[in-house]
Amino acid sequence: MNKLRNFVIGCILCIVTTLGGAADQPPKAAIASAHFLATEAGHEILDKGGNAFDAAIAVSATLAVVEQQSSGLGGGAFWLLHRAKDGKNIMLDGRETAPAAADKDMYLDSNGAVNRDLALYGAKAAAIPGEVAGLEYLAQHYGRLPLAESLQPAIRAAEQGFPLYPRLVKYIERYQEVLRRYPASQAVYLPNGQLPKVGDLLVQKDLAKTLRAIAKDGKKAFYQGQIAADMVQSVRANGGIWTLEDLANYQVKERPPIVIDYRGQQLVTAPPPSSGGIAIATMLNILSAWDLQKMGKVQRTHLVVEAMRRAYRDRSIYLGDPDFVEVPVQMLTNRYYAEGLRAAINPQQATPSATLPGIGQSPKGRDTSHFSIIDREGNMVSATLTVNTPLASGFVAQGTGVLLNNEMDDFSAKPGVPNAYGLIGDKANQIEPFKRPLSSMSPTFVIGDEKVAVLGTPGGSRIITMVLLGILDFFDGNLPQSWVGLPRYHHQYLPDKIFAEKGTFNQNEIERLQAKGHNVQIADETWGNMQAVYWNKKTGAMAAASDPRATTGKATVK
Ligand code: DON
Repeated sequence: MNKLRNFVIGCILCIVTTLGGAADQPPKAAIASAHFLATEAGHEILDKGGNAFDAAIAVSATLAVVEQQSSGLGGGAFWLLHRAKDGKNIMLDGRETAPAAADKDMYLDSNGAVNRDLALYGAKAAAIPGEVAGLEYLAQHYGRLPLAESLQPAIRAAEQGFPLYPRLVKYIERYQEVLRRYPASQAVYLPNGQLPKVGDLLVQKDLAKTLRAIAKDGKKAFYQGQIAADMVQSVRANGGIWTLEDLANYQVKERPPIVIDYRGQQLVTAPPPSSGGIAIATMLNILSAWDLQKMGKVQRTHLVVEAMRRAYRDRSIYLGDPDFVEVPVQMLTNRYYAEGLRAAINPQQATPSATLPGIGQSPKGRDTSHFSIIDREGNMVSATLTVNTPLASGFVAQGTGVLLNNEMDDFSAKPGVPNAYGLIGDKANQIEPFKRPLSSMSPTFVIGDEKVAVLGTPGGSRIITMVLLGILDFFDGNLPQSWVGLPRYHHQYLPDKIFAEKGTFNQNEIERLQAKGHNVQIADETWGNMQAVYWNKKTGAMAAASDPRATTGKATVK
């Protein structure tokens, strides 16, 4: 009798759980990434029984093979994770660290000027990579499949090769002078010393060997042992300062994300050593007092730009690696602090940046890579991965196939002197041994009772404002196709200009912004490569979108 009763109760619970589960779980899985092979790799791993975190390993590792100008084993990443079963949100920080022998003046010449070539190209520009440690950590702590299985699609892509596409060929052409300095780089990117053509197959045997070793022995294979020895030997033979200890000591970190409430929804985004989450929180807190949806475009743009200006000023002064400097996170993300900043905004006139107390330019961004995932259990990953500028240091460590980052340039090499993204910084982001360079990467979730958004993009200093515009568009009720396609504008405090893509503003709007005191510069280029996914918990609708500005992305719901 008891057995029967237990059976009946068990069945009722089972039905309730199933019904409850149906409302809490997406009907399908959605992945958006910057390369179709990476998106397909993610779905392949989901189909094998993996979860979003296993899929994130497959997507990250495949991007490291097919989009290596943007991210890779020689770089770093922030993986923002949401675990459905307990609602845990964390950011896995696989950011690169400065080597032990790094010094704040290491890129200054004898006149005290920053040597930009040294800061950007070759072995001395490279910080200690974090991506591989992050992949192993994801598998061990969040995934369901062995690391080796999730790495299979990447190994296949490296071994069998993939057809070169215009964006990658363009960068090889643009940076060929740097690539030709290093035989291992030339061997990968300029076979027989020739520029490759679109459609040529890029096969990477050394990189496949490195990936296979990681599949077999985990991060140990990369941070210790033969690969580590090869990398250190190659780096030091070319003017770099890495040691075996630097590699062996590398640690990923779990960091609590920046979480704020905006219009009743939870915004979960990247904490330091990213500057993105704090800046986004500051900007949304400033903007929260205004009904932007009811506002005309020029007035809305004016207020959004004034919020951007103030958040980037704070970035240049306060932000750096939280393990080294005390970042006033509570203050900067506090709504009362934002009220003070808002009070100083003139609703009619631009505030010249030079009048804001502070210290004292800018490329386009499709390099670095972002992907977004929601799996059928409701787990989510928003990950931005980087080697910094396109093709990074241009330095492939001999025998490993690994292109090394030039993330050291994300530090401030000298107070007030702009880096590759025109960003300035001060003490908080000066170079110190073992320190993580301040990043703009801003992987983000917006988690509402009804709608969920997962988004992010590459773009250097412009990442933060792109994510902000995407969030505002989400709150306007639009879907991922709109967030990723939206014309973009950007202000970063200094230079004191609104940069806008063509078509963002018409002549009349430009003139009205100028009348408010804004300096509007219409850019020749577009920027960003946003990858976004969306789930409506009420209707079960899902959507995914890849930025139309780059042509290799793929976004699928299946
Ligand atoms: O971490 C950062 O902020 C930079 N290394 C990101 C570089 C980037 O987005 C390049 N894309 N254009």
